[in-house]
Amino acid sequence: MIYQVYPRSFADSTGDGVGDLAGVRSRLPYLRDLGVDAIWLSPFYRSPMIDGGYDISDYRDIDPMFGTLADFDALVADAGGYGLRIIVDLVPNHCSAEHPWFVEALAAGADSAARRPFIFRPGRGESGEEPPNDWESIFGGPAWTRVADGSWYLHLFDPSQPDLNWQHFEVHAEFESILRFWLDRGVAGFRVDVAHGMIKADGLPDMRASRNGMLDPTGTPYFDQDGVHEIYREWRKILDSYAGDRMAVAEAWVPSPERMARYVRADELHQAFNFDYLTAPWRAADLRRIIDTSLATFGAVGAPATWVLGNHDIVRPVTRYGSVARARAAALLTFALPGSAYVYQGEELGLPEVTDLPDEAKLDPAFARSGVSRDGCRVPLPWSGDEPPYGFGPGEPRTWLPQPAGWAPMSVAAQTGDAGSMLELYRAALRLRRSVTGHLQWLDTPDPQGPLVQAPTAGTDPDVLAFRRDSGLVCVVNLGSAPVSLAGYGELLLASGPLTDDGGLPPDTAAWLAS
Ligand code: NOJ
Repeated sequence: MIYQVYPRSFADSTGDGVGDLAGVRSRLPYLRDLGVDAIWLSPFYRSPMIDGGYDISDYRDIDPMFGTLADFDALVADAGGYGLRIIVDLVPNHCSAEHPWFVEALAAGADSAARRPFIFRPGRGESGEEPPNDWESIFGGPAWTRVADGSWYLHLFDPSQPDLNWQHFEVHAEFESILRFWLDRGVAGFRVDVAHGMIKADGLPDMRASRNGMLDPTGTPYFDQDGVHEIYREWRKILDSYAGDRMAVAEAWVPSPERMARYVRADELHQAFNFDYLTAPWRAADLRRIIDTSLATFGAVGAPATWVLGNHDIVRPVTRYGSVARARAAALLTFALPGSAYVYQGEELGLPEVTDLPDEAKLDPAFARSGVSRDGCRVPLPWSGDEPPYGFGPGEPRTWLPQPAGWAPMSVAAQTGDAGSMLELYRAALRLRRSVTGHLQWLDTPDPQGPLVQAPTAGTDPDVLAFRRDSGLVCVVNLGSAPVSLAGYGELLLASGPLTDDGGLPPDTAAWLAS
């Protein structure tokens, strides 16, 4: 169980409306009691914060907004005392335009050695006024920006995030040293940002050529190139050279489960986020297919499957699935599956996406370039109290992104002890999950035409998922529109919502039973 902390929005110790490492440290008992094993911290490094810290200007220091290296060391030490491991975010595809390497590269002339860590190219057109190719930034607009001397540099994201050139040995050496820097400080491992992006196809060919199938037909010329795997083989050796179970998890948006499994081969990374599961519609057939494929493809390379419902880039599950009931059922489904599960902060509170942030409050660089903002899932957490900042910090009500009115019932304090709350559902599920082990075996589901109280008959309801884990846990999820019988599955342990009067499982509800 890995819990993602977005430090800017988790807990503020200073009262400036911005979360920080001391804030995380003060809430470690909460995370221990929630029942997680490790904490993945989104970036806290020195950064101009144009992309929420995914634009790093110093990979070996903490941004003053978040504290100091001493605060980080204290966090790792305290977390260890609670039995929690710390995973940090590693951003190797690009750095900040304020990174000394890029500042130096801009100051040095075209063709100078200082430009080698980046991807500078002359433009096309008569006087080089057109970008070197047709690639577009993930945040919208061209992926190239022209500098004063007329050459262009590549940025798959914002212009403030120049892509690093992984054909250059110094980039490799620098990141190996960065890995060691954090491993030496006791981190359990890394979440690798844009893990599919570091190597670009030779010659930087146009996307058009790629789409016509003239290049690798599986993808774009800047993602999921085979060369990235060599980097992970280098890193795996470093991780393995440290005592005490170090790991890395890939953020790799790739076109198929087979391509994803390549990132977690025995000599590469340990886990990869399962984005097929995250983006699946709320339909039994799709979920079952994705669960089966994930278990098979990860299993084929000996890696644990992963299950994830949200992160700081994705619309929150309550809003994405369209109801709290579905998000609750999805949580029970997720935590019953074999492998590693990830929870993004606030999911356990059932926070919805904040969809009415005023445009002037939105800080996501994607908003200016594409009109799409990820700020709505990054709003600071409510911990207690009746009004903003809901115990987020000791200061005034203003947090770096405004919290909505009406979040008082969602706070940790308000939900604690309320058996019907999302938080208590998560706590109960994570407690039970500790003793769940073994393979997943699909079970027959009830006949949708049959009586509500009956033993399940052979796989007849296409809207119900039911499976058993070797240790005896049965999970039944009703994705249909009528209640279904739970008869014959075992003794009820936990349900994501109330059952019908005669013990049936209502639509958009999941149950855990002991068989
Ligand atoms: C993925 C991160 O999760 C996202 O927040 C960021 O904007 C991009 N990578 C670029 O680093």
